[in-house]
Order: sequence, then structure tokens, then C-alpha cells
Amino acid sequence: MAKRKLSAKASHIDAALDGKSEVSAARARGLGFDELRFTPATLPEVDFEAIDPSLELLGKRIAAPLMISPMTGGLKKGAILNRRMARAAEIVGLPFGVGSQRVALEVKGRAKDFQVRKWAPTIPLFANLGAVQLVKGYGVDHAQRAVEMIGADALYLHLNAMQEVVQEGGDTQWSGVLKAITALCEAFQKRGGVPVFAREVGFGVPADQARRLIDAGIQGIDCAGAGGTSWTLLEGRIARGTVHQNLGQTFAAWGLTTPESILEVRRAHQTVPLIASGGVRSGLDVAKAVALGATVAGMASPVLRAAIKSEGAVVKHLERTILELKVAMFGVGTRTLADFRRQPRLVLPVGSGISRDR
Ligand SMILES: Cc1cc2nc3c(=O)[nH]c(=O)nc-3n(C[C@H](O)[C@H](O)[C@H](O)COP(=O)(O)O)c2cc1C
Repeated sequence: MAKRKLSAKASHIDAALDGKSEVSAARARGLGFDELRFTPATLPEVDFEAIDPSLELLGKRIAAPLMISPMTGGLKKGAILNRRMARAAEIVGLPFGVGSQRVALEVKGRAKDFQVRKWAPTIPLFANLGAVQLVKGYGVDHAQRAVEMIGADALYLHLNAMQEVVQEGGDTQWSGVLKAITALCEAFQKRGGVPVFAREVGFGVPADQARRLIDAGIQGIDCAGAGGTSWTLLEGRIARGTVHQNLGQTFAAWGLTTPESILEVRRAHQTVPLIASGGVRSGLDVAKAVALGATVAGMASPVLRAAIKSEGAVVKHLERTILELKVAMFGVGTRTLADFRRQPRLVLPVGSGISRDR
């Protein structure tokens, strides 16, 4: 089983790189970053050089509300990419998440592909496991091993039900997952373990589901929504049989977009740490995600495209993104992230029926 997942990981990277596995928010028929605007400050009354988007996450200072979302590990190419991304994240001062560590728990010798702490000694690192594994024999000890393997500051449990159901041979038995998450969170809290975060992979988290996760003991949510990499489309593209290829097409634009997903999670809970990934493509998108209520935004496939080139390309990409965020903060006349969160001057589309405080 782990071997099948390993070869799937390699095809995932290739299929994410060509840009053909992305679905725009427009195709998902939902609120996209492109429909949001800021009301400019004609008089910014701020020195651009003094703008500071830094913040604290998981007890550590990070340079900006941005992270590299989890993608890879468990194969040679993945190990190289993880090293490049982790080193770049450390240079710039941003958090980094490794991809699913299941293979490292099941196949001897693969843990090293994920062990990036030596290259990233100071930044927040996220461990990663699939939540569905918790009803397939994984327990607290597996989760603890994943955390210790990389010296993580938090554990991400990914919730990728729609990806699994479209994937050929995917894990489709999801009853009991919430109960298992509750047990895991309880055990982690008792042991004084790291915070457990739940994450979607690109279909969004509505308010009712966010509430259930928070009630289960989840301490942070990545509400990854539609508008970027579509894991149904991607699985359909790499499927061998027509049944799964068709499923991928039919469900390509499933779910809530990322802006909608941010609003939904904030409707459920005002203060839970909220990471927003899925279609974040610039520092302006990061600014919009934060203005909607995200704590931090996450980028996956654009960083992967840079990482394929070099560590330097990742640094450049992250620095450009932070510069764009700072320009947006300047444009609305705010110096710190706290000022920006208080007065983002965000304009929501008229007639969308959506408001930031609903
Ligand atoms: C090649 C690739 C592999 C991924 N693998 C994982 C994974 O192992 N675990 C996980 O939680 N998310 C995984 N993701 C999902 C991303 O972290 C992210 O939530 C999603 O791709 C949406 O972001 P994007 O539109 O910026 O790509 C992966 C994404 C990519 C592109």
C-alpha cells in the first residue's frame, strides 16, 4: 500500500507542476480573490520602509503571514524539494509543512526525506498525516512519531475525503474519523504534545464542519479551498481508468473557494488560528486572505514550481510575495499587521450577499 502511495506522490508532483490541475474560483462559481478589492488610502501616512508584516505563530516570530503548504517527501525528488523549500523558508523566516509522513512511518529509510529541521532550525514546522489513517490502525503513537521525526511545532491532520474517493484505490471508509480525531487531540493534550491542526486540501471548510473540528479539540484549521490546485481534477488526470477520469472532471470544481472558506471558519470561530491555502498566488492574495480573517496564508504549487528550479528561486518567490503584501499594506495606509487587520479597507463584491462579519 505504501509503495502505491509512493508512486502516486511522484505523479502528484508532475501533475501539479504543469498548471493543468488548477481550477479557478470563477469555474468553481464562488467568490475568488480576484473579485475582492481594497479601497486605496490616497494619503497612506506611513513610511514604506517601516512596514512590518511580521507576527507570532506557534510561539515563534515569522516574517509575514505566509507559509509553504505541505507537499512532499518520501521519495528522492521529494527529499530534494523538501530541503530546498525548508532552507528557503528558514532564510526568509516563514513556516513550512512537510507532505504526508505515512510513507516514512511504513517504509524503512524514508524518514530522512522529511527531516528538514537541520536546515530550518528556527521556523515553525508542521508534521503531516492523513486523518483517515486514524480509522485504519494509526493512533497517538504514530502521530507522536511523525512529530518527533521532524521536530515539529504542530501536527497537521489532512482531511482529503474527496481526493481519496476520486483516486483509484483511495481510502474511502471515513466513518469514525471525527471520533478518532477527538481521541487523538485528547491524548496529545494530556501528554502536553504539540497543537493538532486540521486541514482541507482544496475544497474548503464550512462553518458547521469547522465547529465540529474545534469541538473535537482541533487547535488550528487550514481551510484550503477551491481556486488553485484541484485534487479531484488532478486525481482524474492521473487515473488509468475512465471511471475515475470522469469523476475527476465532474468534481473538478467541487467545494467552497478559499475566500468563502475563510469567512465560514471565522463565522464558526473568531480567534482559532486560521491558515488559508488554495489558489493564493501573490502577496495581494495574501493581503486579501488576511483582510478576510486568515491568520496566515499558505502557498503550495507556486512554491513547488520554484523549488523544481532551485532553493534561490524559492527565496526569490517568497520575497516577491512579501514585497507585494507590503505594497498592499502601504496602499491602504497601515504599518503593522495588527493595524492592517483592524482596518483592511477591503471591498466585498456588491450583491454577493457576503459580508465580513456575517
Ligand atoms: C504536489 C502536491 C502535493 C501535496 N501533498 C499534500 C500532502 O501530502 N498533505 C497535505 O496536507 N496537503 C498536500 N497538498 C495540498 C497543499 O498543501 C494545498 O493545500 C493545496 O495544493 C492548495 O494549494 P495551492 O492551490 O497553492 O496548490 C499537496 C499539494 C501539491 C501541489
